[in-house]
Amino acid sequence: MADRPDILVLNGPNLNMLGVREPAIYGHDTLGDIEEACHARADALGLAVDFRQSNHEGELVTIIQQARDTHMAIVLNAGAYTHTSVAIHDALALSELPVIELHLSNTFKREAFRHHSYISGVATGVIAGFGAHGYLLALEAVARLVGAEGAGDEENGA
Ligand code: DQA
Repeated sequence: MADRPDILVLNGPNLNMLGVREPAIYGHDTLGDIEEACHARADALGLAVDFRQSNHEGELVTIIQQARDTHMAIVLNAGAYTHTSVAIHDALALSELPVIELHLSNTFKREAFRHHSYISGVATGVIAGFGAHGYLLALEAVARLVGAEGAGDEENGA
């Protein structure tokens, strides 16, 4: 809906393979399942979600650049580019938008190469280790940040 804050939920490489990709680590939900759950939660929170995925670093950069003028916040699971991409770091910095860094897995419990993130230094906050539910937690955090009308409803109006 046009009058709702538009939130970019952006997914990086290999996240299109959720459901079949290492389910012991990433769970059984597909990216389509997660998208559906995001739209339902966004509706309740008074947000509109623009849910995207790309396997290409440059395309992710372009999408983030465009969000600067069209979106109110970014929820980003950059996948493996989290650990490698200065270009995505720079795009997020120039977007001047609130950014929630998101990971399905707890990257700090995993291999050492996943412990460093180029995203964290330009993120408002980080959510990791809660599986697909992390996307909904991120939307709740964003609703607070942008002052959406449903923000806080999950806490009995607090
Ligand atoms: C991930 C963690 C990354 O280390 C990994 O490369 C991914 C997914 C996660 O959601 O847990 O692709 O971002």
